[in-house]
Amino acid sequence: MSKLESSFQVLPKRLEARADYDVERVRQAFPILAESIYGKPLIYLDSAATSQKPQVVIDAMSRFFLKENANVHRGVHYLSVRATEAYDQARAKVQGFLNAEHVEDIVFVRGTTEAVNLVAQTYGKVHVQAGDEVLISAMEHHSNIVPWQMLCEQTGARLRVAPINDAGELQLAELERLIGPRTKLVAVAHVSNVLGTVNPIQRIVQLAHAWGARVLVDGAQAAPHLQVDVQALDCDFYALSGHKMYGPTGIGVLYGRRELLEAMPPYQGGGDMILSVSFEKTLYNKPPYRFEAGTPNMVGAIGLGAAIDFLAALGPKAIAAHEQGVLAYGQRALAAVPGLRLIGTAADKVGVLAFVLDGIHPHDIGTILDREGIAIRTGHHCAQPLLQRFGLAATARASLGCYSREQDIDALVAGLAKVQELFR
Ligand code: ALA
Repeated sequence: MSKLESSFQVLPKRLEARADYDVERVRQAFPILAESIYGKPLIYLDSAATSQKPQVVIDAMSRFFLKENANVHRGVHYLSVRATEAYDQARAKVQGFLNAEHVEDIVFVRGTTEAVNLVAQTYGKVHVQAGDEVLISAMEHHSNIVPWQMLCEQTGARLRVAPINDAGELQLAELERLIGPRTKLVAVAHVSNVLGTVNPIQRIVQLAHAWGARVLVDGAQAAPHLQVDVQALDCDFYALSGHKMYGPTGIGVLYGRRELLEAMPPYQGGGDMILSVSFEKTLYNKPPYRFEAGTPNMVGAIGLGAAIDFLAALGPKAIAAHEQGVLAYGQRALAAVPGLRLIGTAADKVGVLAFVLDGIHPHDIGTILDREGIAIRTGHHCAQPLLQRFGLAATARASLGCYSREQDIDALVAGLAKVQELFR
């Protein structure tokens, strides 16, 4: 067995064998966490922007380039068949991860943004007409706002927005009031990238389906933290991004209910999405290939498959329990910082801690923390309407992953004390 194969196969099994969650052991799987920044140990608190990558993901991608690289669905030669098998296996892993009914329900895309745009410009173009309504929530990321605004501009439909309360929770009664016979689509985040709020997707789906509306769930921030079951959620579409869940950038997933995907026109034209082409007429391939024009991101899909194996080996419940512990610790620790206001205090939330400090701009906070080796995100987090809801233009945001520790929170709190000292 080669060194790469050995590290690929052994590490997740060892992690699985542990009854308790050994965060230091988990951290050893992520080489970058041993880095120093300005001579200080890296404290990575920006996993909502992008997660770090475990060695098993890096190895799976290296191995593909070292031993398997060829184009998929195009050759009869050994490597092409091998690459196609690896790509197909990755799709099956995603199917298992989401508990989708069929492997054909899984479309590989570049990321959540592309998945939402795909649905807006295919399903939306066919089913949304002038006078219809698309309903989103006040906590959406720009990628779950702008594609719907574009669709509404193109069709004459109306974009409606369900409000949230001061804790950052969706006001379900208001959402229910906004759904009606004109509603064709409800597009909502499973988890807010700013607030960490977990939305009651099953209930939202029930409310929407009662009026015949379809539901797209933006799962980008949920997939790394929650066990996602698209059949239990009963949603029509679910979108996620590989890089948020310990996989690579440039790969994401659109899950779609089979009968919806089968009735949708293609998104982009090109190779692999066709059955036959002549200058007179092109016949399109069936899903998922109909929506995967051009050479796909094979190595990205394989990296995502390795990330799914990694998450499964850690155990989604164990990860969630660990992260909830660090989140609770972080909420208590930050609440005790004088002049700090937490933004997003929903009863049901995951490890995202957005905050503002009296009299100090978030960018200053981020810049000073960076010099301490602490990585957080600052700004509007691609959710300007949400920040406006809280009367803000920007916040600081610390976000957790499976490798986050209470001592990372301690370092953050110590860093904030330095920030405040400099501004005194
Ligand atoms: N959507 C990513 C974030 O929240 C980039 O930071």
